[in-house]
Amino acid sequence: MAVPKLALTELTEASLAKTRAQTVVVGTVQAAGGLRLAPGAEAVDAAYGGTLAEVLTTLGATGAAEEVVKVPSLGRLAADVVLAVGLGQPEVTAEQVRRASGAAGRALSGTKRALTTLSGVDLQAAAEGLALGAYTFTEYKSEKGDKPVQNVDVAAPAEGTAKQHRATLKAATATAEAVCTTRDFINTPPNDLFPASFADRARALAEDAGVAIEVLDEKQLKRKGFGGILGVGVGSSRPPRLVKVSYKGAKARKKVALVGKGITFDTGGISLKPAANMDNMTSDMSGAAAVLSSVLLAAKLKFPLEVTAYIPLAENMPSGTSYRPGDVLTMYGGKTVEVLNTDAEGRLVLADAIVRAAEDAPDYLIETSTLTGAQVVALGNRTAGVMGSDEFRDRVAELGQVTGENAWPMPLPDELRSELDSKLADLANVTGARWGGMLAAGIFLREFVADGLPWAHIDIAGPSYNTGSPWGYTGKGGTGVPVRTIAAVLSDIADNG
Ligand code: BES
Ligand code: MN
Ligand code: ZN
Repeated sequence: MAVPKLALTELTEASLAKTRAQTVVVGTVQAAGGLRLAPGAEAVDAAYGGTLAEVLTTLGATGAAEEVVKVPSLGRLAADVVLAVGLGQPEVTAEQVRRASGAAGRALSGTKRALTTLSGVDLQAAAEGLALGAYTFTEYKSEKGDKPVQNVDVAAPAEGTAKQHRATLKAATATAEAVCTTRDFINTPPNDLFPASFADRARALAEDAGVAIEVLDEKQLKRKGFGGILGVGVGSSRPPRLVKVSYKGAKARKKVALVGKGITFDTGGISLKPAANMDNMTSDMSGAAAVLSSVLLAAKLKFPLEVTAYIPLAENMPSGTSYRPGDVLTMYGGKTVEVLNTDAEGRLVLADAIVRAAEDAPDYLIETSTLTGAQVVALGNRTAGVMGSDEFRDRVAELGQVTGENAWPMPLPDELRSELDSKLADLANVTGARWGGMLAAGIFLREFVADGLPWAHIDIAGPSYNTGSPWGYTGKGGTGVPVRTIAAVLSDIADNG
């Protein structure tokens, strides 16, 4: 789905009287003395003779987060409607703006052209939130319903130069596009999105963006010894793939490897999952989609980095050719793994990709996956768990919080390592006890990470897929987490090494 077209506009009372927008968005905050208008709303308020806060209060508005109240303009503006959206508490953060703007983006569906003044608080957050909130996925609906808002004029903030504003808006648009591309992949059902079709779509996007792509098919995987990817994928009639997508910026300062879990559907295999909610496992390639989009975004924003995504793709199915509990797989690089549970498949495909990534000698490794139900038990649906080498893990978790995607650092307790000891191979793919399942998966992955390589593993089992109601800038289905976190980390590495 395309994101709305965002264009900067100078906002004055005179320009408001001529705007082509149907709806004008203003922000409100919940101050101690009642509702107040957010910065940026001044010209709109002036058209109401300074009474807009009073009008909204009379209608029952309080400025609470994501509250949406519409007021007719009755000729005071060229636009028909003022849409007031609540930011919540008055010391406004970027995430409050993003969420309010997302709520406005959702409420604007059916509108052809809107104008937002939330940019008066935070241009980047207002633009990102609006574009993400407006996202819908109607590919498979006969009746498409109201279209998302198509054109949005974004009021230029008072501070900063026009050149800075253009650069900010460009970055926000590109970032929102990357998140929405990720969502499109996740929302595409598993009968249409399987390893080969994922690779085909990745190729089309990479060629468009002018970044290099290489796809290994099942024969090449076999020849090169990718035992993890092959083991997991061998039960499906749709054979596995390993996709490598690389962008090399001019004057690249650092080399960053990205790895994302690409299980296009996870039935659990012979260790079959229960039927209830198994359909959610269409999202088990969220990490793969996120790292693919992140490379495309790095290219679009011309980061002075080399960024390569390694994407192992397989479908985890039970069949007569499936791998079994009890099998021993020889992974890429030669380590052997005893499979005790075929539903712990993500770590197997990831291990191969992590070892492959290290061959290109990156400075950093970021890996992300819908790895464990234990992540959801520990942190819920809106906070990702970050494991890895101590410093880089903390850096990634912190930037995850700055972007509003939310991430929390988690330990890798050494005592869990011996629980992965296998009776016949180098290690087993699961522990005997179920305690600390998210951490045990992290410990398993650590066995495959090159010594001394700063790495972070982001478990997004909960945050990648919204099975609840829309909130803020997040609709139902794929969320696009952790694309904005990865983008923030890449940008931080570009600036600070
Ligand atoms: N894809 C699942 C993890 C998952 C669970 C993602 C819920 C999203 C929502 C993963 O492959 C899996 O099945 N993990 C097992 C591991 C267990 C067998 C050690 C799990 O979490 O139950
Ligand atoms: Mn599984
Ligand atoms: Zn899985």
